[in-house]
Amino acid sequence: MINDLWYKNAVVYCLSVETFMDANGDGVGDFQGLQRRLDYLAGLGVTAIWLMPFQTSPDRDDGYDVSDYYNVNPRYGTLGDFVEFTHGAKQRGIRVLIDLVVNHTSDEHPWFQDARSNPDSRYRDWYLWSDKKPANADEGMVFPGVQKSTWTYDEKAKQYYFHRFYDFQPDLNTANPHVQAELLKIMGFWIQLGVAGFRMDAVPFVIAEKGAEVTKPKEQYDMLRMFREFLQWRLGDSIILAEANVVPKENLNYFGEDGERMQMMFNFHVNQALFYALASADGRPLTKAITDTMSRPQTAQWGMFLRNHDELDLGRLSEKQRQTVFSEFGPDKSMQLYDRGIRRRLAPMLKGDRRRLELAYSLMFSLPGTPVIRYGDEIGMGDDLSLPERNCARTPMQWSTEPQGGFSKNEKPVLPVISGGAFGFEHTNVAQQRRDPNSMLNWMERLIRMRKEAPEIGWGDCVPLDTGDKGVLALRYDWRENSVLVVHNLNPTPVEVEFDVGLDDDGATLIDIVDDGSSQAQKNGKHKLLLDAYAYRWFRVGGLDYLLKRREI
Ligand code: GLC
Repeated sequence: MINDLWYKNAVVYCLSVETFMDANGDGVGDFQGLQRRLDYLAGLGVTAIWLMPFQTSPDRDDGYDVSDYYNVNPRYGTLGDFVEFTHGAKQRGIRVLIDLVVNHTSDEHPWFQDARSNPDSRYRDWYLWSDKKPANADEGMVFPGVQKSTWTYDEKAKQYYFHRFYDFQPDLNTANPHVQAELLKIMGFWIQLGVAGFRMDAVPFVIAEKGAEVTKPKEQYDMLRMFREFLQWRLGDSIILAEANVVPKENLNYFGEDGERMQMMFNFHVNQALFYALASADGRPLTKAITDTMSRPQTAQWGMFLRNHDELDLGRLSEKQRQTVFSEFGPDKSMQLYDRGIRRRLAPMLKGDRRRLELAYSLMFSLPGTPVIRYGDEIGMGDDLSLPERNCARTPMQWSTEPQGGFSKNEKPVLPVISGGAFGFEHTNVAQQRRDPNSMLNWMERLIRMRKEAPEIGWGDCVPLDTGDKGVLALRYDWRENSVLVVHNLNPTPVEVEFDVGLDDDGATLIDIVDDGSSQAQKNGKHKLLLDAYAYRWFRVGGLDYLLKRREI
């Protein structure tokens, strides 16, 4: 298999231009500000940036309501600024992925405005209409508790229109060939301006059959192949990273049996089990989730993550497991959202406990996939639960102890900067952590370096090992006659485990690549490890004799 698949071992950093860095002092982050922070990101070692939506938008859903796909929201800058940014990223060896939000538009998009104003509009059929309110209009809301219906009456159109998400986000009729052609045009446009691919929003809904008469929507998987082919024709190594929270048996439909559809997908299945593991110190469901999502085409890759810009969706856990995670990480109603998730950032969920934070990130970085971190994770930023819905975890980046955390010179930033307490900018910021060799920031930089030095994780076959302790997770990766072994102790107490590395040779030495220390196999061929509470160890399986022997086999 060729080595060129860059996304197999990328380290992705997700950020919102709006809250990252404000260069012009109007209180809103912008591309010029982001441009100035590119060296910071290069220093951290990330290899790809995923930009949340930045196109023109009334911004009622943080930009996930686009009103012009071919422009930058003037609040963030111009297309010129955007190209300067992608160029700057390229110069530093960083690829840029952008959000592609095409399940729906904003209701302010000229297409929708035209469509609703005239039944003969050429855009009428770009959306979904119904004379009567469909029987299932009160089902399938993505934001229960906030969103009332999926079909809303439009006074102007004198018909109901379909919206899977908020009522200001009318769904596009993605089965319409004109809509499909436009969608490809949008991808082609941004590819031309220097992006390396897309994080495709809400993919299962994009490809679902839509319409008033549809009761059991079927997915139109062929559409995925069309997107992929178009994109690769325009730019060979560009990718689509799909947001698709689906059950494991659906995975191959998204990747394609031969990898002919999406190159990457976020692994929501593992994400939920990961939080359960952190909450309960029971790694078995996580091992099961890893195993259940193991099989995939060789060119396909998972996106692994802890928290993202949305709520932590726990909808696929059992009721009992979900309650365990709620009571450990989000006991208060104000921390929960949409009856299924937790809206907090990771650091406050783990009570700012450095040992647990390191465990969580080390684990996520060493799962079979490509790690995706979120701005602020690297310094352990907190949340502001006084802000509505998901905004609590979307506050401005904390750069320094200057007013507004150095994010903006304006006293009224777009969202308030977190101030006061352990997570306030006065205490948690980049400038201070940069100077402190033991800071979270410097630790994260080392973790990133370590992940890059272990390409086995991105490329190799993952083999879970039996450690005899449900709280100790051991994964071995084999690739090109090399093996890497990662061990994580979820337990709040030290434990000793004895396990077999599982290679058909018992001379293996485990060489620690994080700290000092290595482990020799005992006489019985097994390794015995004493692990501190929440300890994590990364080993290269080695020893010269051992390696030579393996090569002979
Ligand atoms: C995705 C996004 C979310 C957004 C929704 C509607 O789920 O991650 O933030 O609100 O799509 O576009």
